[in-house]
Amino acid sequence: MVKTLEWTEEGVRFIDQRKLPTEETYVTARTYEEVAEAIRNMTVRGAPAIGVAAAMGIALGVRDSDADHLSELRRDFEQICEAMGETRPTAVNLFWAIRRMERKFEEAGELPLPQLKQALITEARQMYLEDIAANEAMGRHGAVLLPASGGVLTHCNAGALATCGYGTALGVIRAAVEQGKKLHVFADETRPFLQGSRLTAWELMQDGIPTTVISDNMSGAMMKQGKIGAVIVGADRIAANGDVANKIGTYTVAVLAKEHGIPFYVAAPFSTIDMDTPDGSRIPIEQRSTREVTHIGDRQIAPTGVRVENPAFDVTPHQYVTAIITERGVARAPYAESLAELAGMAAKS
Ligand code: MRU
Repeated sequence: MVKTLEWTEEGVRFIDQRKLPTEETYVTARTYEEVAEAIRNMTVRGAPAIGVAAAMGIALGVRDSDADHLSELRRDFEQICEAMGETRPTAVNLFWAIRRMERKFEEAGELPLPQLKQALITEARQMYLEDIAANEAMGRHGAVLLPASGGVLTHCNAGALATCGYGTALGVIRAAVEQGKKLHVFADETRPFLQGSRLTAWELMQDGIPTTVISDNMSGAMMKQGKIGAVIVGADRIAANGDVANKIGTYTVAVLAKEHGIPFYVAAPFSTIDMDTPDGSRIPIEQRSTREVTHIGDRQIAPTGVRVENPAFDVTPHQYVTAIITERGVARAPYAESLAELAGMAAKS
């Protein structure tokens, strides 16, 4: 399995996702500022991956702080957390990870500074392992929902590359294939950043899972032709009522799926569920550079000076979501109740 990100003594090592699928290269971010930049510029992307990357960036920044006293280290820690929080606004996993590191800092605040630093490194590495375990659990819960054979459509990349390994939506597909289901994945190319054609297709081909890339405007026709038995996507933030923010274009796919009577599943770890955000209208949507739309690589594909919009995510209202697959189980409508129940399970355990 590809190592999307990894803690090393030199820093946080990433596969450079901007270079895939043509080049498999790795870069090491040696300072917390470099980790923040890697998140911002999409060297690492995907909600769970950026959460763990931020946690490792925080651990790295704290480890390398030359503060002599707790108060100075706390000041550095707060500055590092702030820098991480300013990288990308939509994926709540980032803020979940920062909060978790804040809690660990407070918990370990009594320790001598070297041990406190070590506790933060251990916490970030633990989050990495937990993310893989959550994806495997989602696979176990979700595989049964996919058809025994036929086409499954996915949008963007919710795979090993978007997580610490195995993937959320692609994890469920992997688990279904491991159980012997004969699936064929249709990967929306996912304009403008092309996570579907560049990343999803690349990682599924590595696993030998049959994959067909389609451009985003083909999914309706594929559904109408009966080629798609289910849709499964990941998420960047799920509100308490089940509204789902995910890569731009997800909403279109969900509406099309409903029109064709095709189940639309969302797979996401609990770190993506934001019980403090009541509904999708409150989810901040990242606006990215217009150049992502006007250019493919260095080639300009729109007139100079034309107006362009580039929201990186959209919100799919919960009415379109057949089920939400989490590591704690599968939630179905009414989501306000089912998600609250799953959230409570953890609070008790
Ligand atoms: O802009 P990106 O590539 O970070 O967006 C990623 C997505 O929208 C994924 O579908 C989502 O983060 C889920 S990843 C398991």
